[in-house]
Formats: sequence, C-alpha cells, structure tokens
Amino acid sequence: MTQITIPRPDDWHLHLRDGAMMQGVLPETTRHFARAIIMPNLVPPVVTAADAMAYRERILAALPEGAQFDPLMVLYLTEDTDPADVAAAHATGLVKSVKLYPAGATTNSHGGVRDFDKVRAVFETMAEIGMPLCMHGEVTTPEVDIFDREAVFIETILDPIRRKTPDLRVVMEHITTKQGVDYARSGGDTLAATITTHHLIINRNHILVGGIKPHYYCLPVAKREEHRLALVEAATSGDARFFLGTDSAPHADHLKEHACGCAGCFTATNTMQLLAHVFDAQGKLDELAKFASQNGPAFYRLPENTAQMTLVKTDEAAQWPDKIMTEAGPVTVFDPGFPVYWHVQP
Ligand code: DOR
Ligand code: ZN
Repeated sequence: MTQITIPRPDDWHLHLRDGAMMQGVLPETTRHFARAIIMPNLVPPVVTAADAMAYRERILAALPEGAQFDPLMVLYLTEDTDPADVAAAHATGLVKSVKLYPAGATTNSHGGVRDFDKVRAVFETMAEIGMPLCMHGEVTTPEVDIFDREAVFIETILDPIRRKTPDLRVVMEHITTKQGVDYARSGGDTLAATITTHHLIINRNHILVGGIKPHYYCLPVAKREEHRLALVEAATSGDARFFLGTDSAPHADHLKEHACGCAGCFTATNTMQLLAHVFDAQGKLDELAKFASQNGPAFYRLPENTAQMTLVKTDEAAQWPDKIMTEAGPVTVFDPGFPVYWHVQP
C-alpha cells in the first residue's frame, strides 16, 4: 500500500502553552489535526470552568487564518476543585475532561493532587455525569525508581481509585509500559489509554547511549525495548481502548539543552508521517484510522471528523524543519533518527 485515506485525525493529549509559544506552535497542530485535548498545566494552571473558557478564547484568537480547529478544554484537578464547578464546566459542552497530575510528577504539576481521598467527591461527580478523567500515571515517591513509577502507580493508585468508583471513565495518558498496556486491556469500557508518537519510536537507549539526548527526554521517560514493542502492538492492534495522544510538549531549546532540562518531545509537526511509517512497518496501515481518528472520538462520545486526510508513500524522504521558530525561542522537532517516506497530502 502506498496511499491511505483516513478521517482527519485528532490529538487526545496536547500541550499548546500560552502567549508567544502558543502562537508559534499552534499551526503545527492545526495543519493536520481537527481537534485536540488541551492540557491545562499552564502557569498558573487552568483550574476552573472560567479559566478554561478564557484559555479557549485565547487559543481561538491565535488560530492561523482559515484553520478549522476545535480545542477541547480540560480542567487541572487540585485538592480544592469544586465538583459543582466541574459539572458546570462539563455542561457547557466545551470542557471534555479533568486532568489528574500527582503533585510533582511532571512539568507544572506542583498544584496537583497529594491526597487522593481529597478529590473523591470530584471523581463521584465525574462518574455520574460520564466525564472522563485524564491521568498522568506515575507515582512521585522518591524511593520508587523512575522507570518503575508507572507500574507502581497502576497498582497502588489507579486500581484502588477504579475499585472505589467503578463508573469513573479513565484515560491512562501516554502509557509507556507493558503493564500499562495490560491494565488498559483489562479495564472494560470505562478505561482507555493514549499512546504518544515518540514512545512508539524510542526506547531508553535512544536517550542515554552515545551521549545524553535532551530532546528525547520526556515524562513518563521512555522504557526498555520490550515495552516499546508492547506499545507498538497495542497501537496497531485496532483495539478501541488505544488511541493517539501525542503529548507534543514544546519547550524552548535553551530549556531542553540545560543542566536540568525540561521534559517533553515536540511531535506536532511530523506525527502523522511518523505514525504512517510505524503502522506500515508493522503491516498494519489499515488500523491507522482507528488509532488516529476513530477510537478517540468513540471514547469521548464525539462524532468522527467528516473531513479526510490522505497519506502517500514516495521514494523521497519527508522533510520537516529541524526547529520551529517561535517568539519564545526555537523548539526542536522530534527526530526519529531514520528517514520517513510517508507524506501528508496537502
Ligand atoms: O514530557 C512531558 N512534558 N510530560 C508531561 O507530563 C508534561 C509535558 C510538559 O508539559 O512539558
Ligand atoms: Zn502531557
């Protein structure tokens, strides 16, 4: 197969930031994606329905001329989040999810949750109204090795939450382990998982062998090759529980190439080309539509996009800029480390 047409894709986990950075990176997403779940870890975070409405307006105002793009808003869960505000946000139809960051787990997560019992009432309300909870699934316990933090989270936090609130609909975001894949598969129709582009391509050797590669550092950190293979198998299986969330996370280069570099890979520009490559290599191109365009809207109970996207394989390697130049500084585009022959038809 050298050509494939799929419904226009969506990104079920995206960081747009704000201000100059948002202005610079938005076109990279709107070029290919119709909708995206917009992460709320701004400084200060998007906590209330009013915050989300104001952020949505800033995104709409920054859209490139003629772009058709629907930002799906998300509230940042804190121990003070008011269940009534969450329900009111959901009722607007513009806020699709609440994001749980364990405090300290990742970029701008210090306002997140320390004591999960303090957010039980929010979980109950969300279960009642059918609103999905997006989870950054890593424990922050200093004694737990960073490569084990996802597996320990599933066992000690996620599973107990789901047992106490069985109707809560949960998206395990950016899973990076075989344990994540297995748990998502065990969950019935209240559980789904997003997988990023970069976790389908790199393992932890890519970050650490032959010199440290800060542009491959993200959270959760990439794991061993056996875990990457489990993610590729899940993403390309067509299973409705797995769908694309790029976690494309722009940081200016000087903050990545730093003694204490920020976590995040920027993949908005080349995700669709890379996914076509990965699915093609597995002989699973016919499952790309499910992963990138169909399973996500089905879980979020939204219609599929009616517009389409065609991807074409040629003898020429795809080109993209090494960096996106923003007024907040240059942002390095994820480099898969191999040539890609799939192109998105303009
Ligand atoms: O790599 C990451 N970057 N993981 C996250 O969870 C947050 C994100 C960011 O905001 O930069
Ligand atoms: Zn993220």
